[in-house]
Amino acid sequence: MSRRSHPSSPDSSPREAKRQKLEYAPLTADDYKNGLMLAPMVRSGALPTRLYALKHGAKLVWGPETVDKAILHTTRVVDPVTGVVAYHGKSKPIFTCHPVERPFLIYQLGSADPALAVQAAKMVQQDVAGFDLNCGCPKPFSTHAGMGAALLSNPDLLCSILTALREAMPPEITVSAKIRLLPSQEETLKLVERIVDTGISCLTVHCRTRNMRMREKATIGRLREIVEFVERMGKGVAVIENGDCLGYEDSKRVRQVTGAHSVMIATAAEANPTCFSPTPLKDLEMTFVPGYIRLGKYLNNHWTSTKFCATQFQGAHDKARRSDLKTLREAIVHAKSYEDIEAHVAPWTGEQEFAEIVEAIEKRGGQRAPPIPLEDVVVAPLDAIQDNGELKDVTTTELMVPSLELANKEATSPPSLLGLEIPPISNSGEAIAVQ
Ligand SMILES: Cc1cc2nc3c(=O)[nH]c(=O)nc-3n(C[C@H](O)[C@H](O)[C@H](O)COP(=O)(O)O)c2cc1C
Repeated sequence: MSRRSHPSSPDSSPREAKRQKLEYAPLTADDYKNGLMLAPMVRSGALPTRLYALKHGAKLVWGPETVDKAILHTTRVVDPVTGVVAYHGKSKPIFTCHPVERPFLIYQLGSADPALAVQAAKMVQQDVAGFDLNCGCPKPFSTHAGMGAALLSNPDLLCSILTALREAMPPEITVSAKIRLLPSQEETLKLVERIVDTGISCLTVHCRTRNMRMREKATIGRLREIVEFVERMGKGVAVIENGDCLGYEDSKRVRQVTGAHSVMIATAAEANPTCFSPTPLKDLEMTFVPGYIRLGKYLNNHWTSTKFCATQFQGAHDKARRSDLKTLREAIVHAKSYEDIEAHVAPWTGEQEFAEIVEAIEKRGGQRAPPIPLEDVVVAPLDAIQDNGELKDVTTTELMVPSLELANKEATSPPSLLGLEIPPISNSGEAIAVQ
């Protein structure tokens, strides 16, 4: 198949039109619930990674933070062969996406200006399902301009951006925010209340404060109270936990401790985009990386991006031989273009990989939930959890599953703590009857 590097083309192509067979209902707050989400990741959240995350069970995917001013200076170009939509800056695409991911794609904005945020959102709105405001990036390039985590100490500005986005976007486009914890729980709850009142559909909480480093354990125990607070506000807003989740199995622990509606995964997905599945791929160098590179080439993903992502992948090893792994890794590290790696990943086109992704997404039948849903979990009582997410004293089993003896003693009444009646909650949000 002939490939074109940056073709100019009309805004849609026959192939793009053909793919949009499935009708999706507009995204709502409920779509942010009961799922595992791919976190926004600069560099690592590239288009092929997002597509593989969807193939392997992510419910929604966040694109990498893109600053409002950066997208405003781009030109939108659609590749008539693949349908890839690229927003081209002067020297490279600033943001790339594909119609097949559109119903699941949340575009993350970096902004410190309501008017610019709205302009940027209007520019990409046709290609995404919702917008998320980055209120958590602690890096100087973000905070020096008042963006990212700087917004946490400027709640007026933070909320004015969310309000402006909500007012400017049609109802079928959602608005959400991703924050970090503030040092005190009281301050955090005050901020959360203001943010929820702006009309957002979803709040993601990265359970670290601005000054915490990534090597420090996320304090997920603090989230439970925030989830309950948001639920008591009664607006149906989804709360997503973010921090230290390793994948599908581990998300049970996170949901038990936090009661969050969903869980967002970054580092573990950067290492293995199939971690959203109950059966993530192992031996990635053999089972995943070659296909990833082929897909990258098919989608015209810049080689430096594909190479960067491929060098981050690291899954459990099972059958692969050390020598094979080493050979492929070294070939990737030394390759300066797709052609340099051809011998290791041929046959080449990547069309098959793309077709399999489309097929997997279409299996959802126009719904956003992946075919294998999250299992129901019983949420631990609030005062049984420490800030670090560990459960106090008693064993997890004792806390999670009321024993028959206990259940008999308590008759039908749910556990009562701190004056709150806390029935165990199923994954669908319904209370589970205590047998
Ligand atoms: C490579 C990388 C890039 C990231 N880029 C972003 C970003 O663009 N926007 C954002 O809000 N957070 C970003 N983050 C933070 C993650 O979204 C997430 O909040 C953090 O890594 C904690 O989740 P984890 O414990 O699952 O890694 C990034 C993290 C990583 C590892």
